[in-house]
Amino acid sequence: MNEQRKIVEAEEELEEAVLIPVEAYISEEYARAERDRLWRKVWLQAGRVEEIPEVGDYLTYEILDDSILIVRTAPDEIRAFHNVCPHRGRRLVDVPPGARNARGNRGRFVCPYHGWSFDLAGRNLRVPHEEDWRGALAGCKDLSPVRVDTWGGWLWINLDPEAIPLREYLEPAATMLDPFHLENMRCRWRKWGIFDCNWKVAMEAFCETYHVETTHPEFNRFGSFRGWSRAQGLHSHIGYEAPKEMDPNQAAKLRLGERGDPRIATAEMQVYTWEMANTNTTRTLVEAALRLKDELPEGTPPAEVMRHWLASARAADAARGVIWPEVDPEHVGKSGTAWQIFPNFQIGHAVNNMLCYQARPYGYNPDKCIFEAAVYELYPPGEEPQTEWQYCEPTAEAWCYVLSQDFSNMAAVQQGMKSMGFSGAKPNPYMERSVANLHRNLAKFMGTGAPRRLKCD
Ligand code: FES
Ligand SMILES: [Fe+2]
Repeated sequence: MNEQRKIVEAEEELEEAVLIPVEAYISEEYARAERDRLWRKVWLQAGRVEEIPEVGDYLTYEILDDSILIVRTAPDEIRAFHNVCPHRGRRLVDVPPGARNARGNRGRFVCPYHGWSFDLAGRNLRVPHEEDWRGALAGCKDLSPVRVDTWGGWLWINLDPEAIPLREYLEPAATMLDPFHLENMRCRWRKWGIFDCNWKVAMEAFCETYHVETTHPEFNRFGSFRGWSRAQGLHSHIGYEAPKEMDPNQAAKLRLGERGDPRIATAEMQVYTWEMANTNTTRTLVEAALRLKDELPEGTPPAEVMRHWLASARAADAARGVIWPEVDPEHVGKSGTAWQIFPNFQIGHAVNNMLCYQARPYGYNPDKCIFEAAVYELYPPGEEPQTEWQYCEPTAEAWCYVLSQDFSNMAAVQQGMKSMGFSGAKPNPYMERSVANLHRNLAKFMGTGAPRRLKCD
């Protein structure tokens, strides 16, 4: 059986408390080994399909020593290649200085060094003075292909020709998330930066609800943010526990303010989230929450406030041509609030918006990473904003206050884990199981760093 297929198969639920050795976070040797054992083996989210709408549109994806060129070769075809000229190895397409990646439109790719040129399908069109090779170049003058596929509106690449298909790799996340039609959402904003922590530390700052009470204390006035975390084979997901008196299926991403009058608390929480995080909500949801106190009598039960709020926002969006998908409430509850796609991508999904995080290594320095966040929502057809990746320092001014609270732990964790007094990470077995699952799966690829049973005596 394919090695990867064995890894993808789900196993036990990880109910036991574990200890995660620090090697995966701080070892330079481990960081170097990740290139061949991890990054060149897994499916990686490399961009959005809507970034390359026209034939000839391309973008690059950079992961350590590899650069991948993804090209729309026909209205219904996308191909990917190693971004390297087969002649003497020059990067074929340059990433502009300071940019996250290259992006543009070309009819053909011409290497700037000696002028070898290639069509959109990677076939060599011209080698200047080719006769000098006397036929020896046949079969080795085209671009090297890379596997590419799409799901959820994203472009995914895999450097391993033997890897299992994308859809199989993404399960069960793909089936759970399909009803949300993430491919219809468009970016409201997207930012990236270079952070002083390992890429796992950055991802783990968002894959659990345990930190909310302490790292984001302002949210405590709106309710309790205790949540579960489940291992799902290669991936994992998290969700909030249902507030009292509420059907667990409604305790989805769109949270009701629970403390005090739910009409007022929901409006306050929505305004706070919109202004201080600029994530996990939309203007329509905020405005519908602000109308609650006029549209519902005092004493309306929380479940009814939730039903009315969502129905009112759904209708307001429909009136401007934004149609939310119909997702069975039981499915919404079961899907949770965010999926951690192995190894480095998180999708925080909801019916009309999403918040995604990803992190990649920054060279072989285990203490640094490239961190990225993007917020998406549904727009009326033709009114989708055109966004670019914006480079930002990890400050509240650049990213919003709530995200800067999360960032404030990252470099401190990276430093703390190197302490002689730290025995390893001890994730909460209920709320932070996603952390344990990430390391259980990483260890299968890396051959080292497996979490072990936590036993402190
Ligand atoms: S390296 Fe590209 S043409 Fe020579
Ligand atoms: Fe957070």
